[in-house]
Amino acid sequence: MCGIVGYIGHRQAAPIVMEGLKRMEYRGYDSAGLCVLEQGNLLVYKRAGKVSQTESLLDYTTMHSTLAIGHTRWATHGEPNDINAHPHTDNSGKISLIHNGIIENYSSLKKKLISEGYTFSSDTDTEVLAVFIGHLYERTGDFELAVRSALSEVDGTFGLAVLCADQPDTLIAARRGSPIVIGIGDGEYIAASDAAAIIQHTRQVIYLNDDEMAVMHRSGYVTKTIDDREIDGEIHEIDFDIEQMEKGGFDHFMLKEIYEQPATFKDAIRGRLLVEDGNVKLGGLRPIEDKLRKARRIIILACGTSWHSGLVGEYMIEQLARIPVEVEYASEFRYRSPVIYSDDVIIAISQSGETADTMAAMKEAKLKGATVMGIVNVVGSTIARESHAGVYTHAGPEIGVASTKAFTSQIAVLSLLALHLGRMNQVSQTQGKVIAEALRAIPDQIEKILQTSDAIKEIALQYSHVTNFLYLGRGFNFPVALEGALKLKEISYIHAEGYPAAEMKHGPIALIDENMPVVIIATKDEVYEKVISGIQEVRARRGKVIAIATEGDMSIAEYADHVIYIPATLPMLTPALTVIPLQILAYAIAAQRGCDIDKPRNLAKSVTVE
Ligand code: AGP
Repeated sequence: MCGIVGYIGHRQAAPIVMEGLKRMEYRGYDSAGLCVLEQGNLLVYKRAGKVSQTESLLDYTTMHSTLAIGHTRWATHGEPNDINAHPHTDNSGKISLIHNGIIENYSSLKKKLISEGYTFSSDTDTEVLAVFIGHLYERTGDFELAVRSALSEVDGTFGLAVLCADQPDTLIAARRGSPIVIGIGDGEYIAASDAAAIIQHTRQVIYLNDDEMAVMHRSGYVTKTIDDREIDGEIHEIDFDIEQMEKGGFDHFMLKEIYEQPATFKDAIRGRLLVEDGNVKLGGLRPIEDKLRKARRIIILACGTSWHSGLVGEYMIEQLARIPVEVEYASEFRYRSPVIYSDDVIIAISQSGETADTMAAMKEAKLKGATVMGIVNVVGSTIARESHAGVYTHAGPEIGVASTKAFTSQIAVLSLLALHLGRMNQVSQTQGKVIAEALRAIPDQIEKILQTSDAIKEIALQYSHVTNFLYLGRGFNFPVALEGALKLKEISYIHAEGYPAAEMKHGPIALIDENMPVVIIATKDEVYEKVISGIQEVRARRGKVIAIATEGDMSIAEYADHVIYIPATLPMLTPALTVIPLQILAYAIAAQRGCDIDKPRNLAKSVTVE
């Protein structure tokens, strides 16, 4: 979603800010812009489209400013065009603002400002905030006070950076609900919405909390609350390298991330699996160990792919630990007055740790007294910091908008958690050891599936022209069917639906004819025979069957048009394997259709607005 970069220091600011924006392109955006302070004037350059289109407006040889802000916008209010792109300035041209989030009371504020004679050129809520800050600055002549006063009057969410033409030695950044990270360099500071824009320059960062701001001058900075109480911003170290943000020879980040999965799965279980004890060590859960032991119920909150891994987690935890689990869309949970008991444990699952709906749902649960643990990938993200306890997935930066390695890492952590809870309940050491050994084997098994990717790509070629796809799975693999369908629709724009295999006959079967490819996950487990009946029903209606089956199952070839094999594992761990061919299939179909795989239309990497 929107990307924010602000720079103050001794180097030329524009190239640093533009480079930062490029590093955040993966988040998804529709327009970009830059504002520099040159000889007392704020100069704004902005364009709908790619960062490179804005960059084509710039001539770095004529720019000298050491203070700048830049933005990539993902439209919420007003269509993506040049005018609605950020930065936005106030009527005097002295204030320039970039903003991520939504100002909910912008309409009443705008009316008030119009009645006082102010004018607006865009349809955005952000311009209203810029004009409002400008109005307060005119009255007080105090830039910082104007920003603080404006922010305490607005409702909604913001991550922002703001400049004032009269203050060439000041950059202000603030947050409520949308992330802001402050990179601390030597006599220079970078405020950004994502550490990806900072890593090239410094590893030392401060994560602002809600209602906090940073006021940066070249000689130093201060962090404070929006109501003006100074605070000690704890300095953290960024835990990934710049190489992890590069494509490393692959055509797309998504493909690179698919191929990283043997390593990322290993990283997720590394040091946490006690194979001989048939148990697990999860240090991050220590603060809530007792709550977990006594949990009457677990509620998993997440969105999208993370919600799918939550469904797998539900099946695993219920099977091993016998604790009832509910999996909720975070967006629904927050608005439906959910019943939450103080002995409920909430698990918030999120790759980015910044998804607005998941954050809000988690806040709601905390407010009602529940204990919250996070399963998060991005270290230092809001969900990670605001959970009572948590487990990082350690998948490294995921750049492709379509989530792949984050899903399998979440599955890894959820299986560790299920085993941990299971061992507190009814799982014996011997059973635990079997699960731990199976988990340890998964990375090599993923590797083996990746070696069959050419055959999967062949299948993809035959179906890249179709307009619909159906994905079916049962038990642990029902969520994988949902995930396979999501992957395909996100990056290829083919309509795809995932269903529990047995539900097909209650409706979707009406769709099946010779033009409908149906991906059916039919691994050898307790529901195998039932799934085979589903395959027969598809075949009887001339649908095309692509089966995901267990190695050694030769008989399935009789019923399916195509078979993709995965190595045998425990049924509860099959999702970590069955999802791999579905990721490759979606990727190969989208590549064949010439889609913009890493930045699919209309999508953002982390959805930081409601
Ligand atoms: C997955 O491919 C998505 N692009 C999307 O569904 C994503 O999983 C969802 O927005 C949740 O994101 P999070 O894990 O960062 O919270």
